[in-house]
Amino acid sequence: MSKINLNIEQIRRDFPILSQEIYGKPLVYLDNAATTQKPLCVMRKIDEVYSTINANIHRGVHRLSQLATESHEEARRMVQQFIHAGKSSEIIFTRGATESINLVASSFCRSQCRPGDEIILTTMEHHANIIPWQIQRDIYGIEIQVVPVSESGEIDLKDIEERISSKTKLISVTHVSNVLGTINPVEKIVRLAHNYNVPILIDAAQSVQHIPLNVKELDCDFLVFSSHKMYGPTGIGILYGKENWLDKLPPYQGGGEMIAHVTFEKTTFNELPFKFEAGTPDYVGSTALAEVIRYIENLGLENIRRYEDHLLQYATGRLLQIEGMQIIGTSAHKSAVISFLVNNIHPYDMGMLLDRLGIAVRTGHHCAQPLMDALGIEGTLRASFAFYNTEEEIDALVDGIERVSKMFR
Ligand SMILES: Cc1ncc(COP(=O)(O)O)c(C=O)c1O
Repeated sequence: MSKINLNIEQIRRDFPILSQEIYGKPLVYLDNAATTQKPLCVMRKIDEVYSTINANIHRGVHRLSQLATESHEEARRMVQQFIHAGKSSEIIFTRGATESINLVASSFCRSQCRPGDEIILTTMEHHANIIPWQIQRDIYGIEIQVVPVSESGEIDLKDIEERISSKTKLISVTHVSNVLGTINPVEKIVRLAHNYNVPILIDAAQSVQHIPLNVKELDCDFLVFSSHKMYGPTGIGILYGKENWLDKLPPYQGGGEMIAHVTFEKTTFNELPFKFEAGTPDYVGSTALAEVIRYIENLGLENIRRYEDHLLQYATGRLLQIEGMQIIGTSAHKSAVISFLVNNIHPYDMGMLLDRLGIAVRTGHHCAQPLMDALGIEGTLRASFAFYNTEEEIDALVDGIERVSKMFR
């Protein structure tokens, strides 16, 4: 194992929720792909904003409003530099990855698509990257092309290329599968898309917290993620869009802040990024998100990635020692997410019994029913890891699975 530069014991002290007991057992939280726990600095920042500078932003001349506005716009710059966007106006605050994709799907299809045009997705997409396109399909008569996933949980660039035609308007693909853990070769997919002059959206909901991102180098046209999956507050997320695209697309929602001038006859819209931020923005959430970016950068995403890779290897090795273990998703390039089934034990039964041992894993289709259909299964158990998890917790998971398995023999 390469050197681990993180002090996990100290890190765990930053996450008070982790030290509690569930049913008298130490909590083993392995549901990080669903949402991550929050460090104290995030909770303190939320408290600090409400205790010191709370005021509605942008429109106020008074001091508190100015301070809250500065804090919100500073957060935008933090996100910009975190993903290496060219301009802070290319960062749009949304409610999360889901709303970001809905925004692009709605504004893009409304302005760029005609009946018969096509959007390319993959079988491994989260419902958040399927349903927004289906809604637009039903309005504008566009079609959805789907790239299949191999048995190991990978997509083949040739299968994408085969589906690109003069009708293709956009490719929307996940960076990391929330079920299989597969890390897709997004650099190559972006290059392929651009060879055919097709714009591309990257769903980074499962990658931004694990893998350093550089949208300028990646050259993607859109990229989305949620704060709550990267140790930040719930209810806020990001849409990154290249300026030329954001300029071209019409607003998603109407209301305050996104306007330049309103009469009953006609409304003109504000400049970027405000054109896409109708209503009072979540300036508390953005400020807390900026705080967690500082926290993550202090640990170092490369350190995080190395440690989580170690956890993935350790957990994979240990789980495979269990009789009847089947890991779903065996790509050579994986993030720290492991879906699995054990013998013919229903995932729900296993998940419920693990819960009684204090172990939190997710069960079910993981909002990826088309992928489950393609794999011919109803659902899986899923253990997903964060930098605060430990080998001891993985041992507890393995012991728990063995204990539950015995009950079904
Ligand atoms: C790959 C992927 N995309 C999108 C989403 C949606 O994220 P949110 O519910 O935070 O909007 C998720 C959530 O699990 C996800 O895993």
